[in-house]
Amino acid sequence: MKTHFRPYAPADFETLYSIDQRCYAPRIAYSRPELRQYLQLPGADCILAEIRPAKRPARPPRDSAAPAGPCVIGFCLTEHSGARGHIITMDVLEAFRRRGIGSQLLAEAERRLVEYGVREAMLEAAVNNQPAIAFWQGHGYRTRAILKSYYPGGRNALSMSKPLAGNGPKRTRTKPASRNRRLDRLDKSDD
Ligand SMILES: CC(C)(COP(=O)(O)OP(=O)(O)OC[C@H]1O[C@@H](n2cnc3c(N)ncnc32)[C@H](O)[C@@H]1OP(=O)(O)O)[C@@H](O)C(=O)NCCC(=O)NCCS
Repeated sequence: MKTHFRPYAPADFETLYSIDQRCYAPRIAYSRPELRQYLQLPGADCILAEIRPAKRPARPPRDSAAPAGPCVIGFCLTEHSGARGHIITMDVLEAFRRRGIGSQLLAEAERRLVEYGVREAMLEAAVNNQPAIAFWQGHGYRTRAILKSYYPGGRNALSMSKPLAGNGPKRTRTKPASRNRRLDRLDKSDD
């Protein structure tokens, strides 16, 4: 299975919404308006992981169950403003976990953040989301604070961050970043 990574396009919206619904508990998964809002933030950047079916025979059997086209299996959504980046969400479909997809998505997301001039990446993870905490710790993220009642239902979150190496911005943003927007919930967990 070969995984490709590419930027989000508006036609992917429903696919991402569906993946997010499958990756998180009902009250934690983003609603369509929430997801749309995050994707439209001035510094939003979203990378998708996609698998492509192996080359099909010239005449595939009629009942072939193989997907006809590429299939999105995960994504990482970030936003940035100045030297600070925020990982809004990281989603990998359950059937494709523990194969390095999340790690590759993160590497690509961090690489792009560095190109935008980001020096530090931040995120939130629910205190009971052990797989995610292990994932982030394994990639150098460290706990900076505990955010009380961060999630619906009152669950606490770990605020984690990691310094990113870089030599200043290489990409230019099309729209100016704004921190005025109030984001009530920037990350979630599958509690
Ligand atoms: C967290 C998540 C993105 C990881 O994606 P993934 O593709 O499975 O990650 P990788 O395969 O790259 O894992 C890299 C390392 O992270 C750690 N890790 C990942 N999942 C883990 C788990 N369930 N338990 C313990 N460690 C885990 C391991 O060290 C792993 O390396 P290994 O498989 O060689 O042991 C995925 O589990 C997910 O989408 N979870 C649901 C959504 C979520 O909670 N996102 C994070 C929000 S804060």
